[in-house]
Amino acid sequence: MSAKKIVVLGTGGTIAGTAAQAGDNIGYTAAQVGVEQLLAALPQLRGQPVQAEQVAQIDSKDMTPAVWQQLAQRCQHWLAQDDVRGVVITHGTDTLEETAYFLHAALLPSKPVVLTCAMRPSTALAPDGPQNLLDAFAVAAWPGAAGVVAVCAGTVHGATDVQKVHTYRLDAFSSGDAGPLGYVEEGAVRLVRNWPVALANRSSDALNTIAANTPWPRVEIVMSHAGAGGRLVQALVAQKVDGIVVAGTGNGSLHQELEAALLEAQAQGIRVVCASRCPSGRVLPKPADAFRDSEGLSPVKARIALMLALMG
Ligand code: SIN
Repeated sequence: MSAKKIVVLGTGGTIAGTAAQAGDNIGYTAAQVGVEQLLAALPQLRGQPVQAEQVAQIDSKDMTPAVWQQLAQRCQHWLAQDDVRGVVITHGTDTLEETAYFLHAALLPSKPVVLTCAMRPSTALAPDGPQNLLDAFAVAAWPGAAGVVAVCAGTVHGATDVQKVHTYRLDAFSSGDAGPLGYVEEGAVRLVRNWPVALANRSSDALNTIAANTPWPRVEIVMSHAGAGGRLVQALVAQKVDGIVVAGTGNGSLHQELEAALLEAQAQGIRVVCASRCPSGRVLPKPADAFRDSEGLSPVKARIALMLALMG
């Protein structure tokens, strides 16, 4: 482990969850155990320079822009300290990919920010959280580690590609076509791709801009499907949303009625971005496309990118 400090920011999730019965892996309450307590359960960290801070204590399905803002500010604060090697964030699996992408886009940190999680609560007979947390420490301390990454089940994923793809398995994440960045094996990182590049350490002005844009621009996600119509989009237009991400079928194709409503929304000045509802691949843009494509981002990440773009 590096001599510099690793800061751990707790946000809740199943990794901090508890169940009434030790054998129960699904009937539990997330976000019950404090981050200090999670760390205290790891004898491997004793005597290591570690600092913990509880930023939130939530089930990540309830993630909010306010928590994201706070998390980004705490990351930026700690990463600016010379004696801090990197930040580890304990997080629920359900929106981990969104938080990872938001932090990546908001911070572009040259030091590592490593999100980790668990699929089983801390009270499980065989919890996965402790090993995931140790693996996250190994990544945060690894020479050359940089940028926002996620660590789960011994696998390191980049913030742009990572997606939760399974409801139950311990290895619940995938990086799709891009593949993972690497693996953690007995405390060593084996990279199969490079650490994220083009990292610029955004200034605090960028975060101040985000903080000043409260409430954040409202961007909603709609999906194209058999029998899709235009009424949902018309309702969003009536509510004066700022943007709409549409999760199209296949290469971003849209039901004709939904498309007509989206064209009308766009004509009224609402930003429309087209992603794909397929879990892998990306929308390949064509010159005649009526809507901007999501540049490879999944619908939930395209929503974050559009909110940040609307904030300028
Ligand atoms: C959550 O996302 O906070 C709950 C589910 C999980 O962590 O697996």
